[in-house]
Amino acid sequence: MKNLTLLSLILIAMSSCSQGYIPIAEQQQVPSGPINYQRDIRPVIASRCISCHGGSNPEAGLLLETYIDVRNSAENGSLIQRINDPANPMPSSGLMPVSTRALFDQWRADGYLEN
Ligand code: HEC
Repeated sequence: MKNLTLLSLILIAMSSCSQGYIPIAEQQQVPSGPINYQRDIRPVIASRCISCHGGSNPEAGLLLETYIDVRNSAENGSLIQRINDPANPMPSSGLMPVSTRALFDQWRADGYLEN
């Protein structure tokens, strides 16, 4: 009985250790393999940009609803510059986490894949 109690304590200590030790930043790593719009970029745009850059009257006349829209703004416009601009960030509420912004850099490096 005594040994069993000790064993449970060790197991609890081990499991809490291995779970509690992973820093938050490392839990949001850039996915492995090439970044693509449908899987990696679209969900970010949908949750962070579409409220202002969607619909019939988008802010700054900038629509970010389709792959072509977003690619065009990243490739030929200021999208990547603005999401990384601490003085004038997009979204305007503040810079997104580094790991989220890194997705866009990697998307560019991988050639703006759609899927
Ligand atoms: C709360 C509303 C709001 C949200 C959310 C928002 N934007 Fe904007 N965005 C604006 C407004 C307003 C402007 C025009 C003023 C300015 O440039 O700061 C703008 C301008 C921009 C511009 C410059 C367009 C140009 O032609 O000069 C880009 C690029 C942009 N937003 C990208 C994004 C991206 C990408 C996201 C999401 C990561 C985002 N925005 C989220 C309101 C928003």
